[in-house]
Amino acid sequence: MSDISAITVKNLVKSVATQEGELTILNGINMDVKHGESIAILGPSGSGKSTLLGLLAALDSPSSGEIILDGIAIQNLDEEKKAAMRKQKVSFIFQSFMLVDTLNALENVMLPAELAGISKAKEKAKAMLERVGLSHRLNHFPNQLSGGEQQRVAIARAFICEPKVLFADEPTGNLDAANSKKVADMLFELNRESSTTLVLVTHDLVLAKRCERQLLMDSGELSEARKKHLDATQPSVVKADSEPVKAEAS
Ligand SMILES: Nc1ncnc2c1ncn2[C@@H]1O[C@H](COP(=O)(O)OP(=O)(O)OP(=O)(O)O)[C@@H](O)[C@H]1O
Ligand SMILES: [Mg+2]
Repeated sequence: MSDISAITVKNLVKSVATQEGELTILNGINMDVKHGESIAILGPSGSGKSTLLGLLAALDSPSSGEIILDGIAIQNLDEEKKAAMRKQKVSFIFQSFMLVDTLNALENVMLPAELAGISKAKEKAKAMLERVGLSHRLNHFPNQLSGGEQQRVAIARAFICEPKVLFADEPTGNLDAANSKKVADMLFELNRESSTTLVLVTHDLVLAKRCERQLLMDSGELSEARKKHLDATQPSVVKADSEPVKAEAS
C-alpha cells in the first residue's frame, strides 16, 4: 500500500469549446505526489491551476489522460462512485469558498461530518471553528461573514473529516498575515498528525516555501518551480492581477 502514490497524473489534457473555438486549458500534465507530501502549485492567473485542482479532486472530467488517486483510476468511476470516493478520501477548499448560504457557520462545518456519520459532529465543528478563531461567529450565515471569515469556515469544514488528501485553492488568499500564518500552521499540522497529503494552489510565497515541493503552472503546462519563481523580488512570475504577492515574503 505504501508504495502507491497519493496522486499520479499521466498526460492530462483539458479542452473546452468556446465561441472562439476549442481552448486547451491543460496541455499534457504529468505529476506524481507521494502519500503525506505537501505540494504548492504556483503560476500566473489564468494558467490553469484551479482547473487542474478540480480534475484531481474528481470534481470535473478531463478531455484525455489518466488520474490515479490513492490507487484508483478515477476516469473509470461513474458519478456515484466518484462522489463516494470524494467523501471518503478528499477535502477541497475552494477559491470561492462554496459555503451553503442557508446554513450558519456551525452548520456548514458540521455538514460533511454528519454526512460521513462521524459522532459528535457538533462538538467537533465547534472545536474546529475555535481553532480558526471564529467561536464568536457560530450562528452567522455566509452573507454575514467577511471574506476572510468565510475562508476560515471553509477551512474548518475541509478539516473536520481528516481527509487523506486536501486540495486547497488559495487557502490564504483573503487573509491578513496573522490569519495566513494560523491557517498555514493548521494545514501543516494536519499534514504531520494525520499524514494528510496537501496540494495547495497559492500566490503566497511564504506558504509555498513551507511545502516540500513547488510546481509551476504556465500556460497549461506544469514543471518544477525554480528558485527564481520563489523569489519575492521577482514576483511577476507568479503574481495574479488581483492578488499581489504578500509583502512579508520579501
Ligand atoms: N469552462 C470554461 N470555459 C472556458 N474557459 C475556461 C473554462 N474554465 C476555465 N477557463 C479558462 O481557462 C483558463 C484557466 O483557468 P483557471 O481557473 O484554471 O486559472 P487559474 O490558474 O486558477 O487562475 P487564477 O490564479 O486567476 O485563479 C482561464 O483563462 C479561464 O478563463
Ligand atoms: Mg484559480
